[in-house]
Amino acid sequence: MNEVLSRIEKLREAICYHNYRYYVLDDPEISDTQYDQLMQELISLEQKYPQLITPDSPTQRVGAPPLDKFQTVRHAIAMLSLANAFEEAEVLEFDKRVKRFLNTSEEIEYVAEPKIDGLAVEMAYEKGIFTVGSTRGDGEVGEDITQNLRTVKYIPLRLLASQTRQVPDLLEVRGEVYIDMKDFEALNREREELGEPLFANPRNAAAGSLRQLDSSITAKRPLKIFCYGLGRIQGFSLETHWESLMAMQDWGLRVNKLVQKCHNINEVIEYYHKIAEQREGQGYEMDGIVIKVNRLDYQGRLATTTKSPRWALAYKFEPREGTTLIKEIIAQVGRTGTLTPVAVMEPIRLSGVEISRATLHNQDEIDKKDVRVGDAVVVRRAGDVIPEVVKVIAGRRSGQERRYRLPERCPVCNSEVVKDGAYHRCTGGISCPAQLKEAIAHFASKGAMDIEGLGDKTVNLLVEKGLIDNVADLYSLKKEELLPLERMADKSAQNLLVAIEESKGANLARVIYALGIRHVGEHIAKVLAQHFASIEALKKATKDELMQVREIGPQVAESVVTFFRQEKNLQVIERLKQAGVRLAAPAAIPAKESPLAGKRVVFTGSLETLTRAQAKKLVEDRGGRAVSAVSKETDYVVVGKEPGSKYDDAKALGVKTLTEDQFLQLLKE
Ligand code: IVH
Repeated sequence: MNEVLSRIEKLREAICYHNYRYYVLDDPEISDTQYDQLMQELISLEQKYPQLITPDSPTQRVGAPPLDKFQTVRHAIAMLSLANAFEEAEVLEFDKRVKRFLNTSEEIEYVAEPKIDGLAVEMAYEKGIFTVGSTRGDGEVGEDITQNLRTVKYIPLRLLASQTRQVPDLLEVRGEVYIDMKDFEALNREREELGEPLFANPRNAAAGSLRQLDSSITAKRPLKIFCYGLGRIQGFSLETHWESLMAMQDWGLRVNKLVQKCHNINEVIEYYHKIAEQREGQGYEMDGIVIKVNRLDYQGRLATTTKSPRWALAYKFEPREGTTLIKEIIAQVGRTGTLTPVAVMEPIRLSGVEISRATLHNQDEIDKKDVRVGDAVVVRRAGDVIPEVVKVIAGRRSGQERRYRLPERCPVCNSEVVKDGAYHRCTGGISCPAQLKEAIAHFASKGAMDIEGLGDKTVNLLVEKGLIDNVADLYSLKKEELLPLERMADKSAQNLLVAIEESKGANLARVIYALGIRHVGEHIAKVLAQHFASIEALKKATKDELMQVREIGPQVAESVVTFFRQEKNLQVIERLKQAGVRLAAPAAIPAKESPLAGKRVVFTGSLETLTRAQAKKLVEDRGGRAVSAVSKETDYVVVGKEPGSKYDDAKALGVKTLTEDQFLQLLKE
């Protein structure tokens, strides 16, 4: 038994240490597999000897029964908030006040730290074992969220002791629980799929996760923590705040790597600018820096007001979120034809930039958030992403607000707009100026008309100089028009014109693909070309006819029909035709040269490699006729699988029958 106990203790210590390497130092020493092996061994020993399980065992993070409500916890030392500064002058004033209070003219040493935008919590460790965890609450009394905090892997269940640093008898640690931006987005995506309400920002997500009565839900949330301060500490003495941060880190508590000791207030101000610049790259939300007088004896002398300590100050960054009014909603057409509703707002400054537009993503989002023209809304600008409308402040409605619907016609080219999943799309394709550059680049691309020398840069120039308005304009470009373009020498202009000219001979499949019909990729274009043999025939096809073609589903069929319904697209096609672009498959093989020329062919049963329509077309391409009834005049009956009565007719009338293979052979001759 003693051996088991000591093995269990060894495993716990090892796991505890490797957690520290992984979660606190972000520098693991062993692989995930090796870690899992340690954990697995511990789990099976504990299963065998359940009497040896202790609450600080790394296996004991989840599994606590759900609560009815949270108990309260009184903080022995109040968890105060911070006074805020927004301007440098206020920071300099703070430094002066500190010196005045301490009655010194010497430079004050500070510690500067990122201010994390999450939720403040306190964890008590008795003899190194995590016992109670609580929220800040009103500062005096918080909620007991011990079992939720136990599920956070970044919080150690027991502190690490080292030779140089013993663990205090009692330690109250304070820190900020938060969620990384990426994890927040993933969490919201997951909630969206499940139809659950979305969190407005990472802080709300962190708060919501910690307030769960069922800790198994908290366990699934990607919560992290940065520890930044101490409450009570017994059996250990410290002289500076910096020392306490270093001690916390040694005990296995996660401290932000960006903390910095500053020799005077000017260094603090430099730090502020440095962190503001790095703000976007950190992956989590910071709303400023916190400035703390380093010496703890000074902190004691400075003491606190009722609300906040005199020894600390929050120097805030410009906020990312703010409230403003929606003046108008417009539909913006993107390069792929997507209509994005955009809120035009009263200008507002967010993290240093004036914002007057924010995306509403799509109609579903507008409906879900119930955003109306005239609404007061919360807007948010995070990192480099486009500002977005987070939510409506419904309490500020006057009743004059107007609902919004995306238009049924493209605001740029007036083509029909169709719904495609969550998005609305302009069907203008090649003829919509908003999609022009994209459409032309696609038209010229390798799998399409393959016009060498017509890359993105040249396309941009041609469009910006007003030389082309649609793909058909390419065919009337003149050398004199090209020469003035940037980096367009005589030779390259000549080459481009030749390439454009040569593209007129592209086969039908390429032309169909080049048109940029939604959902019609290279393969589907080939299928359509083979079946319809000309743009003219494709243009006339109904949705039902299209769907009878093998591999063509309702989505493609719908999209093709919609494309050819647009007057503008028809005009462009007409102009392509006039320019001499080949809009039909090559003419049928001269009748006399094919063994099928002039022959009457009947099909019965199902063919394996061809649809009936394809087979008929192949016969017709070769000058033959595909007929439906067998008579003495019939030359061949092609017999597929499970043939019908026509097979019997053929035998009765002595008409020559062909297997599918023989038919294919004949086609090749
Ligand atoms: S020190 C008495 N340091 O900001 C000092 N707070 O308004 C109390 N916070 O409730 C806090 N990062 O939730 C401190 N590095 C940091 C912090 C930080 C975020 C939060 C904390 C606190 C609030 C103060």
